[in-house]
Amino acid sequence: MVEGGLEVSIAVFASGSGSNFEVLVEKSREQAWPQEIALLVCDKPGAGVLERAERLGVPAYVFAPAQYPDKAAYEQDVLQLLRKYDVEWIVLAGYMRLIGPTLLEQYPWRILNIHPSLLPAFQGKDAIQRALEYGVRWTGVTVHFVDEGMDTGPIIEQKPVLVEPGDTLESLQKKVHFVEHHMYPAVIRKLLTGQLIPPRDR
Ligand code: GRF
Repeated sequence: MVEGGLEVSIAVFASGSGSNFEVLVEKSREQAWPQEIALLVCDKPGAGVLERAERLGVPAYVFAPAQYPDKAAYEQDVLQLLRKYDVEWIVLAGYMRLIGPTLLEQYPWRILNIHPSLLPAFQGKDAIQRALEYGVRWTGVTVHFVDEGMDTGPIIEQKPVLVEPGDTLESLQKKVHFVEHHMYPAVIRKLLTGQLIPPRDR
């Protein structure tokens, strides 16, 4: 954590188990990294990530999008919350929902996603399982900027993962997550320290 209140405020959005969320929080606390995970936004009551947020002492906000008339109304509420925390970047980590124009317009080139495949292969759900079933020799991890599509935004960084004979869904998931947990904090750090420049800032 950087002294003097210079951290960039980040919101993590997650719907699932939250292993990436946990790593991001730990990294941001362990080292002199310029980001603070200010809050968690979760759209799934009961998701495992909420237990992690509580244990780590990160404020967590649970939304029920189905109770809103539409995505814009839901995202408007989320936006109010982000403003309270002066959030500058949104980091998706297993957030199972497309981001709509309300948030995209407020955070141009400031929303990131991590996906467990070498995009554009295996966009969408169950990417690891589908890669295994397809029989690819290499799969991997992609970090990309978020646009209105499903895993379609501009790619920032990719890392390969070898699919070995005898790999199961479980073993391949383990390898992919291992890569994710190193890659995501590193890419975010590069973006926040200017080692990677988003196109809109070039
Ligand atoms: C990760 O594999 C990520 O790439 C994908 O969703 C998964 C989230 O895992 N978008 P976790 O909840 O962080 O453990």
